[in-house]
Amino acid sequence: MARRSGLSVRLKLTLSYAGFLMLAGVLLLGAAGLFLLRQGWLRTNEEGAWRQSPGTELVRGFAPTAAAVMVFLLVFGLLGGWLLAGRMLAPMDRITHATRAAAAGSLSHRIRLPGRKDEFRELADAFDTMLAQLEAQVAEQQRFAANASHELRTPLAISKTLIDVARADPNHDTGELVDRLHTINTRAIDLTEALLLLSRANQRAFTREHVDLSLVAEEAAETLHPLAEKHGVILETSGDIAPAAGSPALLLQLTTNLVHNAIVHNLPQQGTVWVHTGVRPKTVVLTVENTGEQLTPQLVATLTEPFQRGTERIHTDQAGVGLGLAIVKTITEAHDGTLALTPRPAGGLRITVELPAASGR
Ligand SMILES: Nc1ncnc2c1ncn2[C@@H]1O[C@H](COP(=O)(O)OP(=O)(O)OP(=O)(O)O)[C@@H](O)[C@H]1O
Ligand SMILES: [Mg+2]
Repeated sequence: MARRSGLSVRLKLTLSYAGFLMLAGVLLLGAAGLFLLRQGWLRTNEEGAWRQSPGTELVRGFAPTAAAVMVFLLVFGLLGGWLLAGRMLAPMDRITHATRAAAAGSLSHRIRLPGRKDEFRELADAFDTMLAQLEAQVAEQQRFAANASHELRTPLAISKTLIDVARADPNHDTGELVDRLHTINTRAIDLTEALLLLSRANQRAFTREHVDLSLVAEEAAETLHPLAEKHGVILETSGDIAPAAGSPALLLQLTTNLVHNAIVHNLPQQGTVWVHTGVRPKTVVLTVENTGEQLTPQLVATLTEPFQRGTERIHTDQAGVGLGLAIVKTITEAHDGTLALTPRPAGGLRITVELPAASGR
């Protein structure tokens, strides 16, 4: 925003400081003058003299001294005020400098104002905190973009290799080539769809409807039943009606991701998945729990980060892209809910999604 330039704060402070000093000087000298004038009159009356006004003479003698004092106060006020205001406003320079640096893109700069707490230090500290958060967010976004590009490049690079090999060998089995290209293509589409879903949930661009989580859980379980059978996993659903407010499609996606994970990241055989819905005083809860290998709390704490995959299966064909839990977390947050991941002592994971209960149930 373009503004016309005005008096600097330093100058304004200096002028008001000098102004107040002059005012105090005038009042003090005025009082002294009045006092002298009264003394003069009293003496005149006592002496019964006829000279008209010795008091006025006294004041006349006092005037040059008073003028000298006023000049001194003016110079002292201006000089002292200028230095004092400069000292007081010094932190502002650092804050302005840091703001300009941040506006120019340098988010790593910090003000780090030394000294005890006062208004300027509080402003500087708040600014430093804001910069730190902004820097972390930007770094996270850059990491995300780099990871997404890398993940998207992989299927494209594999397709290119397959096509190159096929071109070099005219007797190549095209049926097999088409099959493999189809698989790779499907994976790339899945990844792109997951990315789109993530950005949609992030923008909170959905209307809130009445959604019963127990019905959503049943639908997800029904859809994934064949997968559970394929993996030899027993899938159990239970619980009460759990009315929440949100997007039915996104909440179904959330539940599906959780149940899908619980099936595929389970024991190689005889695994179990429990899906449960419940109500608390002000919230509704969806819990998905599964058997599986033992997980450390440190590993579990990282699983909701985008592209974060567990230890196993990273290089196998059916490895996921690592966005399932990131999507769950984003959808939960977009619905003002909380997500908790706890490793089960016997192995496997327990995931709890807690959403605000729909009002007026
Ligand atoms: N229910 C679970 N039990 C055990 N481990 C799990 C469970 N859910 C997730 N994990 C671990 O967390 C990792 C991240 O899960 P996430 O769903 O984000 O990615 P993914 O399943 O690998 O891929 P996709 O994006 O296809 O879902 C998984 O690779 C797995 O190691
Ligand atoms: Mg997953």
